[in-house]
Amino acid sequence: MSKLRPTTQVQEMSVQSALELTTTLGELPVWEIHLDVICPGKSLTAAFEQEPLLPGIILTQNHHYRGMISRRRFFERMSRPYSQEIFTRRPIEILYAFLEVEHLILPEDTSIIQATRIALQRSPELVYEPIVIQSKTVHTSAESTLFETYKLLDFHQLLLDYSQIPDLALHHLQKTEQGARVAEANLRKLQNNYTRYLQTEKMASLGQLVAGVAHEINNPMNFIHGNLRHLEKYNQKLLKLIQLYQHNYPEPTGEIKTEIESIDLPFLQADMPKMIESMKVGTDRIRQIVLSLRNFSRADEAELKVVDIHEGIDSTLMILEHRLKAHSNYPAIKIIKDYGDLPLVECYPGQLNQVFMNILVNAIDALEDVNERRRSEGLEHHLGQVIIRTSFQDSGQNSGWVQIAIADNGSGIPESIQSRIFDPFFTTKPVGKGTGMGMSISHQIISERHSGRLNFYSTPEAGTEFVIQLPIDLGLN
Ligand SMILES: Nc1ncnc2c1ncn2[C@@H]1O[C@H](COP(=O)(O)OP(=O)(O)OP(=O)(O)O)[C@@H](O)[C@H]1O
Ligand SMILES: [Mg+2]
Repeated sequence: MSKLRPTTQVQEMSVQSALELTTTLGELPVWEIHLDVICPGKSLTAAFEQEPLLPGIILTQNHHYRGMISRRRFFERMSRPYSQEIFTRRPIEILYAFLEVEHLILPEDTSIIQATRIALQRSPELVYEPIVIQSKTVHTSAESTLFETYKLLDFHQLLLDYSQIPDLALHHLQKTEQGARVAEANLRKLQNNYTRYLQTEKMASLGQLVAGVAHEINNPMNFIHGNLRHLEKYNQKLLKLIQLYQHNYPEPTGEIKTEIESIDLPFLQADMPKMIESMKVGTDRIRQIVLSLRNFSRADEAELKVVDIHEGIDSTLMILEHRLKAHSNYPAIKIIKDYGDLPLVECYPGQLNQVFMNILVNAIDALEDVNERRRSEGLEHHLGQVIIRTSFQDSGQNSGWVQIAIADNGSGIPESIQSRIFDPFFTTKPVGKGTGMGMSISHQIISERHSGRLNFYSTPEAGTEFVIQLPIDLGLN
């Protein structure tokens, strides 16, 4: 059985909490003034006069909900002839019987959006009537009773709150959008860090592999190179001995004569020293490559070192030699070195090599790009070149800085994308070819790790120049 929860006769209007899209009627400021129908009509007048904003009064009978009388209906009735005389002293019940008004009763968990829609559908003469809000509370204490509470909501208050809905919806949308942006930014940051990590890892393992291969080649190479000197000496001695024989025995036997002819002794005598000489050139070249590989990998040099920048550039070029050579579709790329007099530079050599590598690979890609396009248009090859200029500033603004400029005459960078070149993941290359991290990482290495600067100048269809500026002394010691 449901019972009206006993309330004091007059209660304050409840305070409203911050409005939200999901706010329900139970959270709005409501009126809770109850009068029993046996009270005389004048108690209604007193209550309405005491609370000038009171929209209506809940009527009860033996603590049960009986109905509601609104301010408007009450005063309208009381203004009629004889009403004062008839109703003031008699119980409210009698007045209420005359009013016969239907009420809108809504559960307290109705949202303000729903409630406004329902309330507006009322007939025109009732549309401004207050709304009765019903809430149910179970009290388990003594006899597990269901209490019903009835409160009144001023229709004007509902409209006022409803009018804030568009603003709330907009705010909600903005918050959702903002949240999505933050999530996207976090995701990008995560991706960025991950790719940076992968790149660094890739370079580190490439460095280790290169260092390993270089080491493996180095041992047998030294062995060959060391023995070649002896081979050369023994060969000289043997040739001298043959000469001596030929001198002392100018007329050899028939068998020896035939053998001399069959092996073409004069040719062997002339060719043997040349062959050994070319082998020496070959082993020297291999030794140089091994040195470059070791230099490039700098596996043992993750630490700050004082190095010759030219060595780093040269060994990087050596690693990229296969891409500089002529291919079936492209002519060779010419490397022009214009090296200045550079002092040793304090830096992380492995990382600087990574920057040279990223810039040079981009230059080669841009040159191949030009030739690819020309080929598809049936045009002649374009002769690609990369000019590497280095210089040292010993006076003026950048005194104590070295500059390395790497310029290609490739496809150039369209102006519209120039501002994005250092953005992580920005690439114009086909999927799978570029990650778009090369320049972003290079920029970080130069500016953050070396307190230097990395800029570029590009003319579309003419070429691009990347300029690295580094202080020779990082001032860490
Ligand atoms: N020398 C250059 N000539 C023309 N465009 C260039 C040159 N250097 C860089 N770019 C442009 O800048 C973009 C970004 O270069 P970045 O090196 O960061 O990424 P990527 O080369 O595309 O990919 P990867 O991560 O494999 O290096 C390139 O996709 C290219 O459009
Ligand atoms: Mg690149």
